[in-house]
Amino acid sequence: MRMRRKKWAEPELRSAAYCIQDPRAQRGEWRACFARPDQPLALEVGCGKGGFISRYAFLHPEWNFLAVDLISNVLGSCKRAIDEAFSGKREVDNIRIFAWDVEQIEDVLAPEDRVQRLYVHFCNPWPKAGHRKRRLTHTRQLLRYRTFLAPEAELIFKTDDPGLFADTHTYLREARFRILEETDNLPVTEESIVTEHEAMFRSTGKPIHFLRAVMEEREELEDEKTAGGC
Ligand SMILES: C[S@@+](CC[C@H](N)C(=O)[O-])C[C@H]1O[C@@H](n2cnc3c(N)ncnc32)[C@H](O)[C@@H]1O
Repeated sequence: MRMRRKKWAEPELRSAAYCIQDPRAQRGEWRACFARPDQPLALEVGCGKGGFISRYAFLHPEWNFLAVDLISNVLGSCKRAIDEAFSGKREVDNIRIFAWDVEQIEDVLAPEDRVQRLYVHFCNPWPKAGHRKRRLTHTRQLLRYRTFLAPEAELIFKTDDPGLFADTHTYLREARFRILEETDNLPVTEESIVTEHEAMFRSTGKPIHFLRAVMEEREELEDEKTAGGC
């Protein structure tokens, strides 16, 4: 289904200082664009309409956040969600958002950016075998993340899709991430921040798969060219 173009999205994205028009210009210097550059930096890939990042960043001024989505239309909704979460309470000083294809994430993030946490929430499952390399948790993609993640950075992943969850175990192993905790039925607690897609899946009774993994040293990395064949 094609999404109708939101005429307001691009002008609004241009109007807010925290929406980055040319993320390539920030490569290696993301920390410096925050009011508190020494804070830990987290990244959400495929942030969608920003239901998670807007509320989480508001609740955690002690972290800096980057959020990226492929589609400007969707990022426009993310910008509105951020404005709503912060409105009249405090300045939006710990979040930057930008439109970009995560398959080319290395063009906008460098080792010096030292991202300490990575969120992947309900990325497209790409069930057809020929499309799996597009998954945002595929080995090929995890190896890209490795280039800018800080040592022992954490990856947090949620999905409704059992096949994607199972395959992600393989991808994590190939790219040398170690799972610290996981569940096939994540409960909702008072602290939970439920994303838009999560709310949709929960409303139909689908269990939510969750895992938290840590990036390990590179030394024993499997051959990067052959990893993640499926
Ligand atoms: C199923 S939605 C999930 C949105 C949100 N994370 C949530 O949990 O509600 C997947 C999102 O990933 C974005 N996306 C898919 N492929 C991407 C890519 N290669 N680069 C950046 N964003 C991508 C889509 O535009 C979409 O907004």
